[in-house]
Amino acid sequence: MAPGISLTQEQLTNVLGGLSVPVEQARGLPGWMFNDPDVYAMEQERIFASSWVCVGAEDDLPRIGDVRPVEVAERPLFLVRDEMGYLRCFHNICSHRGALLVSETGRRKTIACPYHSWTYGLDGTLKKTPHICGQGVHDSPTLDRSLHGLKPVRCATWARLVFVNLDPLAPSLDEEMAPLAERWADYDLSLLRFGEAEDFLLPANWKLAIENYVERYHLPWVHPSLNTYSGIDGSYEMIGRLHVGVGSRKVTPPRPAGPLPRFPDLPPERIGCGEYPAFFPNVLMGLHADYFFAYVLTPDGPHRTKERLYTFFVGEESRDPKYAGARAAMHKMVADINREDMDIVSRLHRGCASPAMTGAVFSPVFEKTSQAFQRMVAERLAEPREAPAVSL
Ligand code: FES
Ligand SMILES: [Fe+2]
Repeated sequence: MAPGISLTQEQLTNVLGGLSVPVEQARGLPGWMFNDPDVYAMEQERIFASSWVCVGAEDDLPRIGDVRPVEVAERPLFLVRDEMGYLRCFHNICSHRGALLVSETGRRKTIACPYHSWTYGLDGTLKKTPHICGQGVHDSPTLDRSLHGLKPVRCATWARLVFVNLDPLAPSLDEEMAPLAERWADYDLSLLRFGEAEDFLLPANWKLAIENYVERYHLPWVHPSLNTYSGIDGSYEMIGRLHVGVGSRKVTPPRPAGPLPRFPDLPPERIGCGEYPAFFPNVLMGLHADYFFAYVLTPDGPHRTKERLYTFFVGEESRDPKYAGARAAMHKMVADINREDMDIVSRLHRGCASPAMTGAVFSPVFEKTSQAFQRMVAERLAEPREAPAVSL
């Protein structure tokens, strides 16, 4: 198939078939699936419009009235922290004629539309319709304001990360996260405290960032420094319905700026352990005894992915200025590893543009995880869930 031609069900079934066999015989997604605009559009509808998509961290909106525009499945949305301190998500369009309401991060007392100044509360209720029935006449006998509030989108948080789901019928985030929550029951994730956030722009398809993240085969060549304290030996795979990744029993990063507080009461085997799952479809996580990080990936067309890295530390104590150097050093270490990955993943993207890239063959030892992630994608494209009864 050449890029630009719509996919057929038969093609999708063939791609899925190539991934649904033991790793030794598997054939990965063909290169055009990382470049084709039709594939991208299909992913947005069949994956992003019906999944719990991560849109950032609670710490992006710490105060009442903070707003932040986000985009999921090419729908403009915005997040807001309401008067009660809860995070909410709404479609970012005015109930009047559909103007975009929030175009930048900031703090608001109300959400006023820049077009005709219809004004909404932080809870989405329509409060004001100025001059709707002539100069100085702000009420209309034919418009019941209570019926024209902003359209809400499901929003939930987990480990300080914020997720939204456009599908009103999808299971709750807690249900979808249950296998990871169980896996990480030793860690009191309510102790996580925000460290730092940093943005990156990856010139590559979003799927390549994930399939790279979930395999450790590339460590000796792409991350020679990381490989000295977290090598490919001692690693293990984690493959669940919605998470896939690797763990390592021996992660001993240098701490030139000193130690950081740890999660309390961890079993000894957790002290030098790191686990790195991708939660489908767009967040990459890393959990350790003394820090947690997450990359939130936002696809921006088939050739580009926005990445936002968040680092978190453990307990109020970790916010003490005496740990500032250690926090900054840890954040930099994680970010530097990402810079190494960005370089190789952009090469991967350029290679996948070639029609000669007919699909990966996988290392049977190290790349069952990349196969599993690609299979999750292929399954959702080839066997989409029924369209939700209410679809926004
Ligand atoms: S479109 Fe928003 S007030 Fe008119
Ligand atoms: Fe890497």
